[in-house]
Amino acid sequence: VPARALAAMAAQEPDSLAALNAVIRASEPLVPGATQAVLGEGPIGAGIAFVGEQPGDQEDLQGRPFVGPAGQLLSRALREAGIDRDRAYLTNAVKHFKFEARGKRRIHQKPTAGEVAHYRWWLERELAFVAPRLVVALGATALLALTGRQVPITRARGPATFEGKPYAGLVTVHPSYLLRLPDTARPEAYAAFVADLRQAAALVAEPALGAAG
Ligand code: URA
Repeated sequence: VPARALAAMAAQEPDSLAALNAVIRASEPLVPGATQAVLGEGPIGAGIAFVGEQPGDQEDLQGRPFVGPAGQLLSRALREAGIDRDRAYLTNAVKHFKFEARGKRRIHQKPTAGEVAHYRWWLERELAFVAPRLVVALGATALLALTGRQVPITRARGPATFEGKPYAGLVTVHPSYLLRLPDTARPEAYAAFVADLRQAAALVAEPALGAAG
């Protein structure tokens, strides 16, 4: 565990998203190599928060979530689902890029359950400050971060409740998964992803859910 992060956490419980982000920014990556911490992005009070896995190569270099290929696919799907990306909150379960160097390429490595657990403290507080009405888990790592449980997406997909949380939940696939599919399988899987995002938009528009936020 990074000593500096622990010291910063122990020193004070962050009382704002900005204070929390300062702690995250100052922390060492759990696995060395990342250029910088990639913080969440979007307005406090956003109706929907999207939680991904961890920053990728482009996110690590630019310091912003979902700006690489998976992020571009997500942006397109959000547009098709009628969700304004700029009004949503986008973040990751893990804040630092983990990779394996192969020549000049940096190949993404999936965070371990232990790494996800390490970053959970931050994610929980982050979401408490943003206070969305709906949290969308993009893939199994996000779901693990939000629930502490390892469940396959095929079983968890759809509306969900996250125990003890004030927000509603929805579970869907990660956009990187769509990029990895063979061309023949991708259109159908992409359409299902957009359908999930439409469901998210509909859920957050429900008066009951709106009133709860
Ligand atoms: N994949 C993620 O999970 N998050 C990003 O920010 C980019 C790719």
